[in-house]
Amino acid sequence: MALTASARISVAIAGAPYDVVIEPGLIDRIGAEVRPFVRKDSVPIVTDTHVAAQWQARVDAALATAGLNGRWLILPPGESTKSWAHLAQVVDFLIAEEVERRDRVIALGGGVIGDLVGFAASMVKRGCGFIQIPTTLLAQVDSSVGGKTAINTAAGKNLVGAFHQPALVLADPDTLDTLPPRHVRAGYAEVVKYGLIDDAEFFAWCEANGAKLIAGDAEARVTAIARSVAAKARIVAADEKELTGVRALLNLGHTFGHALEAETGFSDRLIHGEGVGLGMVLAARFSVSQGLMHGQDAERIAAHLAAVGLPASLRSLGLGCDGRRLADHMLHDKKMDAGTLPFLLMRGIGQTFLAKNVDLADIATFLDVELRR
Ligand code: NAD
Ligand code: GLY
Repeated sequence: MALTASARISVAIAGAPYDVVIEPGLIDRIGAEVRPFVRKDSVPIVTDTHVAAQWQARVDAALATAGLNGRWLILPPGESTKSWAHLAQVVDFLIAEEVERRDRVIALGGGVIGDLVGFAASMVKRGCGFIQIPTTLLAQVDSSVGGKTAINTAAGKNLVGAFHQPALVLADPDTLDTLPPRHVRAGYAEVVKYGLIDDAEFFAWCEANGAKLIAGDAEARVTAIARSVAAKARIVAADEKELTGVRALLNLGHTFGHALEAETGFSDRLIHGEGVGLGMVLAARFSVSQGLMHGQDAERIAAHLAAVGLPASLRSLGLGCDGRRLADHMLHDKKMDAGTLPFLLMRGIGQTFLAKNVDLADIATFLDVELRR
C-alpha cells in the first residue's frame, strides 16, 4: 500500500452510517471534528485515570478551540470497570448532565471505556448518541468501530450489551505514544487478525512491517489502522448484528482466547489481545490437525506473533490444567447456538471460514497436545 498520511473511512451501516477519521495529531483538532455533531457547548466526556493523566489537558484545549467545554467523568482503569456499578455511574452522570436523545457524549479511551460508554449511551433516554475517541491500538483497529457495546457480569465477559453505533470515530495514532508497549503488542494481534481472515497480502505486510509499527513508526501505524478499519467496516456493513456468519469472522482466535482468559481469571496474566493472538495460533494448528491447512502456514503465523513478542505457545503460559478444562470454558461462550459452538478455522492464511460441526472432545484432545508442545 502507498504512503498513507491520514484516512477517512465510511462505515456504511444501513440507517446509521458514520466516518472513522485516522490522522496523526488529530487529538489537537478534535474540536472542529466534534463541533458539527453536538448541539450544546458543554460535552460530556468519559475516560479512565490513565488516559486522563496523559490526554485530558490536550483534549480540553482542542475542544476550547471550537468553543466547547468538556464535562469529565474519570473512571478507574481496567477490565473491572466494565461492570454494573460503573454502568450505573455513567448513566447517572449523563442524566445529571441533562443529556438528551439527540446529544452526543464522548468515550475517550480503550475498549473498556468504549464498550461501557457505548452501552450507557444505548440506554440513556432510550438511546443517545456517542463519539468514540479510541486511544489504544486495539480500540483504534477494532472495538471503536462496529457498535458492539457491553459490560461483564459474574457469569462472564460481555454477556450484557447492545449494538449501538457511534456517530463518529476519531483515531489519532499519536495517542499510542503513551500506551504501555504490552498493550500496543496486544492490539497488534487484532491487526494480524484482518490478514488472517481474508487478506493474505496484508498478513505479508504485517510480517514486513509489524515490528516497525509496534516501535511507533507513524506511516506503518496509519496504514495498519486504515487497512484494519476498512476491513472491519466492510464486514460490519454486510452483517451489522452478526446474523449471517460474515461478522462472526471477526471472532477468529476468540473462542480459544476467551477460554485462556477465563482460565487465567481475566487477569494481567493474559490480556485480551494476547489471548486473541494465541487463540489464532491454536485455531491454525487445530485446522492443521483436521487436515484443512498446511502446517507451514500455521507455523508462519506462530513465528510472526512470537517475533513481535506476543505469546505464541500454550505451554509457555504454565496453566497447570488439561485440555478438557479449557474446552469446558467454551461451553459458556456466548456464541453457543442450539448447543453447538461455531468455530473459526482456516484453509490457509487469508482463508478463514466458520465451521459448525467441531466436536469439543477433539478440541480437548488437541489442547492436551498443545499444553505439552
Ligand atoms: P483498555 O481499555 O483496558 O486499555 C488498556 C490500558 O491502557 C488501560 O490501562 C488504559 O487505562 C490504558 N490506556 C488506554 N489508552 C492509553 C493511552 N493512550 N496512554 C496510556 N494508557 C492508555 O483495553 P483495550 O485493550 O483497549 O480494550 C479491551 C476491551 O475491549 C475488552 O473489554 C474487550 O472485551 C473489548 N473489545 C471490544 C470489542 C468491540 O467490538 N466492542 C472488540 C475487541 C475488544
Ligand atoms: N470484535 C468483534 C466484532 O466487532 O464483531
